[in-house]
Amino acid sequence: MPESTDHLTHVEAIKPPAGFLERHPSTPFLADFEEYKKLYRQSIDDPETFFGNMAREHLSWSKPFDQARYPPGTGFQNGDAAAWFLGGELNASYNCVDRHAIANPDKPAIVYEADEPGEGRVISYGELLKEVCQIAQVLTALGVKKGDTVAVYLPMIPEALVTLLAIARIGAVHSVVFAGFSSGSLRDRINDANSKVVITTDESKRGGKAIETKKIVDEALKSCPQVHNVLVFKRTGNQHIPWTDSRDLWWHEEKQRYPPYVAPTPVQAEDTLFLLYTSGSTGKPKGIQHTTAGYLLGALLTTKYVFDVHPQDVLFTAGDVGWITGHSYVVYGPLLNGATTVVFEGTPAYPNYSRYWDVVDQHKVTQFYVAPTALRLLKRAGSSHVEKHDLSSLRALGSVGEPIAPEVWEWYNEHVGRGKAHICDTYWQTETGSHIITPLAGVTSTKPGSASFPFFGIDPVILDPTTGEELTSTVAEGVLAVRSPWPSMARSVWGDYNRFLDTYLRPYPGFYFTGDGAARDKDGFFWILGRVDDVVNVSGHRLSTAEIESALIEHPLVAESAVVGFPDELTGSAVAAFVSLKHKNLEDVAETKKELVITVRKEIGPFAAPKLILLVNDLPKTRSGKIMRRILRKILAHEEDQLGDISTLSDPTVVKHLIQVVHENF
Ligand code: WTA
Repeated sequence: MPESTDHLTHVEAIKPPAGFLERHPSTPFLADFEEYKKLYRQSIDDPETFFGNMAREHLSWSKPFDQARYPPGTGFQNGDAAAWFLGGELNASYNCVDRHAIANPDKPAIVYEADEPGEGRVISYGELLKEVCQIAQVLTALGVKKGDTVAVYLPMIPEALVTLLAIARIGAVHSVVFAGFSSGSLRDRINDANSKVVITTDESKRGGKAIETKKIVDEALKSCPQVHNVLVFKRTGNQHIPWTDSRDLWWHEEKQRYPPYVAPTPVQAEDTLFLLYTSGSTGKPKGIQHTTAGYLLGALLTTKYVFDVHPQDVLFTAGDVGWITGHSYVVYGPLLNGATTVVFEGTPAYPNYSRYWDVVDQHKVTQFYVAPTALRLLKRAGSSHVEKHDLSSLRALGSVGEPIAPEVWEWYNEHVGRGKAHICDTYWQTETGSHIITPLAGVTSTKPGSASFPFFGIDPVILDPTTGEELTSTVAEGVLAVRSPWPSMARSVWGDYNRFLDTYLRPYPGFYFTGDGAARDKDGFFWILGRVDDVVNVSGHRLSTAEIESALIEHPLVAESAVVGFPDELTGSAVAAFVSLKHKNLEDVAETKKELVITVRKEIGPFAAPKLILLVNDLPKTRSGKIMRRILRKILAHEEDQLGDISTLSDPTVVKHLIQVVHENF
């Protein structure tokens, strides 16, 4: 379990920045924290009325819903998640695009900031509607029907948003695979979702380098016999990309066959909008399944209330569309609110460490949202990069994906926000769909390092990890769970509802289990303390240690491996792999370690590569053969005096050997 949290008692809350309202575009959505508390109470006591009203007010329905929540009431009844807005019909692309295009066709929907500065462009809501309609018709012509999944392997370009919205427009289901994943991971996800069409680019550009995207897709498709078409957007125009005439089609050639409008296909509120694969405790990634209306409402309301997004705002979420942050806060949240979203293709370091601030300054960004790992990098690069820019347009600064250390919070506040922007440390997960514990900009007092208070409809509890009992005292520490369903929570794991229940709803009956540890301080602030399962967050990427172990086993020399996370100054956590080999007395240890790293890069993707490989004779196992990763974590942290009870190990002498290897290498 996480460290002791006694020190939290002394952290004082900081009021919303005094300068926040100076640049505010209109009346704030909420007058103050008292109003938040009032609405929050309603959302918990009577979610049906609260979310029913919100859904009627904020979403456009082609058929009104009959019942806001089923079954009515509160809580996880019969141990299942609830269904929302039954009887209602709507379309996600209509809600994101048409209604704003009709009202204001020339308004910028997307500001595309290309990898190379100056090569971007602005896309209006009217243009976006046309593109979405044309690609929707291309997909229909390729045989994609309502309910079918379409795999998306695209970099951060406007066409990624067009693709998602086009898929949603015909009632199909998008399944985005982060373009940093290897061909093997892409193949597994395409097959698990049984996608028959894949959308990608010829190449991608990132940090000045070209990435062979189409080649990776082709490699994956060698083992995906059901895929009959690949739609390829020409990003770089490199002539030398692999091509299969009978299967591959150019985006620009297909698009121009179709007129600029096609009507959206209405879907049921609970129809699936998308799948997004995420890592869990076991090696097999889970296709987290989100439904249409509930997800849209969550993305819309959090964007609006957490970041205080008004239609005239420009939101810059520096996350990738391959992860949930990109889905909810690059695509759906900003567009549902009729705001402008920045689509950033590059990296924070290219062409230099000023890049983010150039974008903020140039496009007068009002909300900026990023993972602490990027902030650590930029803080280290020096404040001079920030200081030469006019960042006075910023009102809210978001943080996501991992706890933000107080000194990074302070740097963000002082150098980027200049004391006038509200820092929102947003806690949530792929499975929650949208923020669940977070400050509301302009409203909630903050404490650096705390995600503060729950969003509307979220009833968080802290449970004793062993007994599962709720810890009701204000000051508490345990595992974080939620007492009642909310509209944007995941409904299933694709094709495996039982796994959904086993992972989230059965570990602590009556609650949704987050997999994170948390503490609540004397003022009721929530502090997220990190995963309590075998998931590691590296640079904001969520990795499963079991998945990395399965990758390592692919190397012919590996007998066994155990992967754990360890703290890293820059990436938050880093991956360490303890590996035992089939043959000892290796001639070239360095070469073997290199090969093992390459194996992981190839099997999963470069972002999962272990930072540390430790070749060991044996791993610490219980008599029943279970690897005790806790011991490995302690040894890595040089806390060998706190190993706890090691008498259950089948061979306790292995500990001495492990300590020696760690001391020699780390
Ligand atoms: C972690 C990312 C601390 C947490 C949106 C969670 C955080 C996992 C925070 C989900 C935060 C996310 N403070 N930890 N503000 N936000 N996490 O699914 O461990 O990629 O369970 O979603 O990230 O990662 P995922």
